[in-house]
Amino acid sequence: AETLHGTLLSPDALRGWLAPRSRNSHKGSFRTLGVVGGTRGMAGAALIAARAGLFAGAGKVYVGLLAETLAYDPGAPELMLRSVDDTLEADVIVAGPGAGLSPSATSRSTFERSTLPTIIEMEKPIVLDADALNAIAVQDALQASLQARTLPAILTPHPGEAARLLRSTIAEVQRDRIGAAVALAKKYNAHVVVKGAGSVCATPHGEWSINATGNPGLASGGTGDALAGLIGAMLCQGLAPGRALAYAVCLHGAAADACVAQGTGPTGLTATDVILAARRVLNDW
Ligand code: APR
Ligand code: MG
Repeated sequence: AETLHGTLLSPDALRGWLAPRSRNSHKGSFRTLGVVGGTRGMAGAALIAARAGLFAGAGKVYVGLLAETLAYDPGAPELMLRSVDDTLEADVIVAGPGAGLSPSATSRSTFERSTLPTIIEMEKPIVLDADALNAIAVQDALQASLQARTLPAILTPHPGEAARLLRSTIAEVQRDRIGAAVALAKKYNAHVVVKGAGSVCATPHGEWSINATGNPGLASGGTGDALAGLIGAMLCQGLAPGRALAYAVCLHGAAADACVAQGTGPTGLTATDVILAARRVLNDW
């Protein structure tokens, strides 16, 4: 029965979802995105997500790094580096890129024990990626708090993260990517994308779509972090979670396709290239 709800996600399907900016809009109109992640050695993951949010239209972007201290990002001085607590005051939260994962239940970080549970209980749009997903996979209480949300969260697992969340295997997920996305969406009461070639989006009600954009140039470190930030930007601009996810997934792939058309990839395509191209594609749609 699930197969009845499938659609193909292409730029044509999203036309008109984002209204043109009104003449008298101001930065407050496009809300504040807060990115939480980037433990020691992984600050870049959080900064990439934050830059993607900025370049795709969030009004302001806060970054709460978990262990690194950085006064500002010289490559994107618009980003506001703040404490994690202050970052949580943003209207929309992206959590997980580069957050790090403890090796055992007895050595959990503040992020795993406290920050992530707090984020999941916030009544605001949230995107959970990477190590936020790995933390959820091993803490049953977090599944219950996702289930209790009135505004479903957005989860962005790659097949490895999806397998952990389903207590399954990567091979099993890849054998039925649609089934995995739908099962995750129902299990966690969330909008879910199972990433990788032919990303599958699913809603908590079990509707799904397959993305038609993107290419193997995206198989490089950091592109997933960029996707998380793009989703955050779409939430900041007023899209409901299901649409924000679909729009960002399609935009992310289309940006990579635009890069390849210009010779910036597939080989050597970087997350930074994808973010810059996403801005052009977005203004073109
Ligand atoms: N075709 C189309 N899209 C692709 C392809 C492909 N062949 N390969 C990858 N992509 C896209 C995915 O759909 C996804 O949007 O690139 C992105 C990759 O995201 P991730 O797998 O999360 O990769 P990355 O950002 O490098 O993650 C960095 O975070 O999730 C952890 O374990 C991960 O340590 C790693 C870190
Ligand atoms: Mg990732």
